[in-house]
Amino acid sequence: MTAESGSRAQRIDRYVGQYAERAKGMVASEIRALFAVAARPEIVSLAGGTPYVAALPLDAVGSMVSELVSSQGTQALQYCTAQGDVGLRERICGIMALERIAAHPDDVIVTVGSQQALDLLARIFIDPGDVVLAEAPSYVGALGAFAAYQADVVHVPMDDDGLVPEALSEAITRVAASGKQMKFLYTVPNFHNPAGVTLSAPRRAEVLSICQRAGLLVVEDNPYGLLGFEGEPMRALRADDADGVVYLGTFSKTFAAGVRVGWAAAPPAIRDKLVLAAESAVLCHSSFAQLTVREYLATQPWREQIKDFRELYRERRDATLDALERLMPAGCRWTNPAGGFYIWLRMPDGIDAKAMLPRAISARVAYVPGTGFYADGSGSQFARLCYAFPPPDRIREGVRRLASVVEGEISLRSDFARLWAISTKSSYSPAASLPNARFHCAREHACETN
Ligand SMILES: Cc1ncc(COP(=O)(O)O)c(C=O)c1O
Repeated sequence: MTAESGSRAQRIDRYVGQYAERAKGMVASEIRALFAVAARPEIVSLAGGTPYVAALPLDAVGSMVSELVSSQGTQALQYCTAQGDVGLRERICGIMALERIAAHPDDVIVTVGSQQALDLLARIFIDPGDVVLAEAPSYVGALGAFAAYQADVVHVPMDDDGLVPEALSEAITRVAASGKQMKFLYTVPNFHNPAGVTLSAPRRAEVLSICQRAGLLVVEDNPYGLLGFEGEPMRALRADDADGVVYLGTFSKTFAAGVRVGWAAAPPAIRDKLVLAAESAVLCHSSFAQLTVREYLATQPWREQIKDFRELYRERRDATLDALERLMPAGCRWTNPAGGFYIWLRMPDGIDAKAMLPRAISARVAYVPGTGFYADGSGSQFARLCYAFPPPDRIREGVRRLASVVEGEISLRSDFARLWAISTKSSYSPAASLPNARFHCAREHACETN
């Protein structure tokens, strides 16, 4: 077999008829497909949600890891329990206390990032066709985990104050009337990925009481809660309902994404199922990674480090908002995040962010089109911008490039409209003439506010 025929053979999947039904829901996310191109140095990537780990004291972390192996190597390099190291779980309880959660180490299971917790939850709760309620838009990795177990995701609109309680009630009533099994509400209450908005305090109480009345479990996914730019961290949903809320946390954004350590705090019965599911998936998580985090929390100034991250990300957010304000053409709208990594940008009417992406890449700027954040592939008028990784001057350059691509699209459309009017002697209607120009209004409120 030649090298060429060998590589062609790899592309033809001879097992295509053999996969389980659920594998059909496993498709490459918009973000993964983008990563390869967006990583090129000439491109300003506002795409991936990549934390700025260069801000960590790398030498100090290096010495700490070296000391860990020489002094505690027999534990760090050994198997451990599927629930995770108890010393780390104690520390995790201390971290959750910052958001007013009173938890015991027994309530906690350590996971491979919060992504694994999402997968385990989907695994223990979702049968094909079961409904998961989730914000519109929603974190792409959660949608991927739910799709892998053939969930039917029903999106619930948000506005500037996060999930809209009335819309949540309506969605619950609608799904209940359909006779489908509703398994949980998935929500990212703080500095939402991708929308950048935060669930207001009064709405937290409303959302909880709606879910309590409906007997619906809440999955509170909170990677960014300690990365707020103003004031104290918000009170977690789990702080007010430990029986009705599974809380997901992670060290990916406050320490290092590469250690892949996250956790779930769950009611005891759910925690037991999660431990069993984790055991069958991985036996136990990496002792080395867990002890690295435990030592980091015990020996390094992690609170100061989080403060440094907050300052760094605040500066980058400000640079992005300032550049958007100065450079983006009329008709663009965006959210104004009070923490976290993301801005949700709405293009002018008729501009399709997904169709525009190749032009943006040619102009050496990358973003994630909104379609990745909706289970039904809608949201083409939106783009997610992540400001966490590029320094402020690169952000400004990236927004300048993006603004000129959007301007190019607008002028292309107006030329097209003129030619259309000449050739058909009728006025041009973008929505009628271009199928992809659908206006998606689920996020309109949040995006109306700069
Ligand atoms: C909302 C949300 N949940 C979960 C994750 C997964 O994070 P990790 O698996 O690194 O903990 C991310 C990562 O970006 C996220 O934004």
